[in-house]
Order: sequence, then C-alpha cells, then structure tokens
Amino acid sequence: MKKRLGVNIDHVATLRNARGEKHPDPYTVALEVLKSGADSITVHLREDRRHIKDIDLKVLSSNKSIPINLEIASDPIMVKIALKYKPSYICLVPEKRNEITTEGGLNLKKNKNKIKKILEIFNSNSIRTSLFINPSLQDIKLSKILGSKCIEIHTGKISNQIKYNKDYSKELIKIKKCAFYAKKIGLEVHAGHGMDYKTAQILNRIKQIEEFNIGHFIIGESVSYGISKVVKKFINILR
Ligand code: PXP
Repeated sequence: MKKRLGVNIDHVATLRNARGEKHPDPYTVALEVLKSGADSITVHLREDRRHIKDIDLKVLSSNKSIPINLEIASDPIMVKIALKYKPSYICLVPEKRNEITTEGGLNLKKNKNKIKKILEIFNSNSIRTSLFINPSLQDIKLSKILGSKCIEIHTGKISNQIKYNKDYSKELIKIKKCAFYAKKIGLEVHAGHGMDYKTAQILNRIKQIEEFNIGHFIIGESVSYGISKVVKKFINILR
C-alpha cells in the first residue's frame, strides 16, 4: 500500500501574516508541494484565524485539482464554511484559543452528539471524514460508532519522546494496537502532529497507517535548506 503524505501549510500563512502582506503565498506553496509528490494539502481554519484565513481557503478550493484536507473545530460556523468550500476531506480537531498548537485529541465522549451530527452532514456531502484523537481504543470504537470514515492518531506525545531521546516504546505499542484495531473495524488510519524524519520513519513501519499529515517540521526544514537557493539567486542579481 502506498503511504500518503498530506502537507500542512498553516505555517506558510504564519510567516506571511508576520508581515501582513502577500508573501509567502500558501497557494503557490500548495502547488509546489503537490508538484513534489505529496498527496494532499492540510489547512486548519482556526477560530482566531491566526494563520490560514478564509481567503486562503477560497483561493485553494477554487482549484479543484488540489485535494484539501480541512481541519476545523466542531462548530456550526466552521461547518457552514466547510460546506461552502467543499474540501475533499474534513478532519475535526479540538481547539482552544490559548494553545500554541492542537495539544491533544478530541473529547469524543463529551461531544458525541455534536460530532455525530457534523459527521452525518459531511458524509452525506461526500466529504471524507476524520476525527483527530489520542491513541485510545475507546476513542477508536466511539469514532466508528459516531460514523467517521477515518481517524487521525495524535502523535504529539511519541514525537516529543523521540525528539528528546526518551523511552517511546510504550507509546509506540499503544499506537500500534490502536492502528490495528481501527483498521480491523473498518476505519482508515492516519497519523499527525509533531513528526520529523525519525518519527515518520518509526511510525511508517505500522502498516495500518495510510496517511501522514505533517506541517511544522516540513516548513522549518524548507526554510533551513531552501535558503541556500534563494541567497544564491540574490547574489546573482547583486554581483
Ligand atoms: N494533524 C492535525 C490534525 C493537526 O492539527 C496538525 C497541526 O497541529 C498536524 C497534523 C500537523 O502537525 P505538525 O505541524 O506538528 O506537523
């Protein structure tokens, strides 16, 4: 099975917004990402619009050849926006105003009625549905009951353990068990959050995981290793 890569371009918008102008442009980056072989573009339209803005979503979704994975909170306004732009995929994520990034998976138990209704809406509009959850067998079972087609396992904990050379074996076993169980009950399995090369290599050994959604590290590496090309271009202009 070919493993898919979704690239989260939120932080291209973060960089652009730092100047309040047009550069770098998430749409241009999305085209480059797909040209390079990635399978989809992930964007998270946050309530506070700290990175991706409505206009980005409008521009991206105007090009029907871009498979968009839209991350949104379980909120009626977001559902309305999503239905307007009809992305290929939807991933429901928890959202707290004060967090720097999505810190954990959804609380399915607490929000099950709301989530079930939202999943029904997207399923009936032929939009692939996914729930961003912690690696928990209970949440996987509930995801299936609520009607999601996919789950995305939050890999933030194991990513940090790997990054800081801590023992990650327990978390890896948990993720493996979850991926196996989810696939067995008919859910497509995705993984996302905090991944770098090493985490992706380790998690890629779990054959049930079909899709990886990676953002911050890819943008960071692109700055670190893409800068040389740009500096050389300026030197060419100036000398
Ligand atoms: N998947 C989901 C559901 C996310 O919310 C995010 C961003 O927090 C990512 C993947 C990408 O995470 P990162 O930017 O840490 O690679």
